This record gives sequence, structure tokens and C-alpha cells, in this order.
Amino acid sequence: MLDIRNFTTGYNKIIVIRDISIQVEKGKVVSIIGRNGVGKSTLMKGVMGLLPSSSGEIHFNNQDITKLKTHSRARLGIGYVPQGHGVFPNLTVEENLRMGESINVKKKNNDFDVIYNYFPRIKERLHQKAGTLSGGERAQLSIGRALIGTPDLLILDEPSEGIQPNIIQSIGEIIRQINKDLGLTVLLVEQHFGLIKSLADTCYAIDKGRIIGEHTSDDLSSEIIQKYLTV
Ligand SMILES: Nc1ncnc2c1ncn2[C@@H]1O[C@H](COP(=O)(O)OP(=O)(O)OP(=O)(O)O)[C@@H](O)[C@H]1O
Ligand SMILES: [Mg+2]
Repeated sequence: MLDIRNFTTGYNKIIVIRDISIQVEKGKVVSIIGRNGVGKSTLMKGVMGLLPSSSGEIHFNNQDITKLKTHSRARLGIGYVPQGHGVFPNLTVEENLRMGESINVKKKNNDFDVIYNYFPRIKERLHQKAGTLSGGERAQLSIGRALIGTPDLLILDEPSEGIQPNIIQSIGEIIRQINKDLGLTVLLVEQHFGLIKSLADTCYAIDKGRIIGEHTSDDLSSEIIQKYLTV
């Protein structure tokens, strides 16, 4: 579904990630791990077209999207939850969800019931300002908003960041459920090894802007994950 081929990008001509190749098959959860500052978010911004390609290509559903603008990629079916969740603090929960509608070209989910089914707490808080939500609720809102666009691929950049452990587990279960029920493919940047272990079918490790390892869920031990997060 997503094919990143020898992709290189960075900021203002300073290269941050080099020659990265990653394949995400339909229906899978693929995880990207690595320490702080190795280039995980930079890679996701590259996939979303927020940073230009210095070299390499990105293909989505057999279409070359390397040169497409961010909104076009979203309309083709890539949902993106940026690091820090990216909700609008001064808008209500409902207004935040409605922002997701603009990319919903298929016009499904307009009644938002699918989202409320996974995130009942969000439904209870529709008129509350998003800035007053707890970290866990904000994470749920950000994922819900991305789902309104009915993506085929959901990119999550560290959904567990700033969230307490018991809530991380429940968000992990919801991600797994969404992956199963909706057949949604997930590209997950994470540093929380419990979440990686419980969700990922395949895992790529990044260090200093390059891929240094690739593992399937069968050979993905806690020791291996720890090693990549602490090298
Ligand atoms: N807007 C920017 N302008 C210039 N350099 C940037 C910018 N954003 C990130 N960088 C640099 O790019 C490198 C990779 O950052 P990136 O955010 O991709 O790391 P990360 O792996 O996502 O880290 P973390 O786990 O902390 O989120 C870092 O050295 C960072 O300082
Ligand atoms: Mg990051």
C-alpha cells in the first residue's frame, strides 16, 4: 500500500534522513522505532508531503505521490496524526472533528457514529474546548479526527507521548480494534515498547537518519526493542 523508496529529506538543504526504504502492506501495522532525534517525525512529514523529497520516491496504492501536495495525499486516503496530537486547543471537540470532514471525499462516517463507538469519552465531551482535555482524551480526539477522513492508511506519530501507562494500553487496544474492524493499515512511530510489541506486524529501526534493522513480530523481542531505543 505504501512504498517508500530510497527516500531522502531534511530541512533547508540539511539532510536528516537518508536512503530510507520501507514497505507497508495493506491491513498491517508497521512500526518505526528509534531514539529521540533520529528522524522518525521527519520521515512521516516526508510521507505527508510536508517536506520535499531530496531523492527517492513515495508510492501509495501504486501511484507515485512523491510530488503531490499534503492535502492531495490526505484525499487519496492517508490520515495523519502528528506528534503532540495536533488538536486545535481553542476549538471544541466537535469543531476539531469537523476539521476532519474536509478530507472525507467518500462522505462516509458523516454521522461520526463510528468514531463515537471507539471513543465514547469523546462523544461525552463534544462541547468542551480541546485544550482542556486530558492527554489521553486528546490522543483519542486526534485519532478520531483522522478517522473522519476515512483513510486507508493511518499514520500515528507517537500517540502514547505524554500519556499514563494504563491509558496507553487502552489506546493500543483501540488501534488494534480499528485495524481489525475497518481493515485500516497503520504506520506507527513509537518508543513505548509495550505498544510496539502488542501492535506491530513489522518493525523498522532508525538511527541517525538511516534504517538499521527490520524485524517481523515473531523475532521482535523486548530485548531487541530496548536495544534500538537505547543504543
Ligand atoms: N523544523 C526543523 N528545522 C530544522 N531541523 C529540524 C526541524 N525539525 C526537526 N529537525 C531536526 O531533525 C532531526 C530529526 O528530528 P525528528 O523530529 O525527525 O526526530 P524524531 O526521531 O521524531 O525524535 P523524537 O523521538 O524526539 O520525536 C533533529 O536533529 C531535529 O533537530
Ligand atoms: Mg518525533
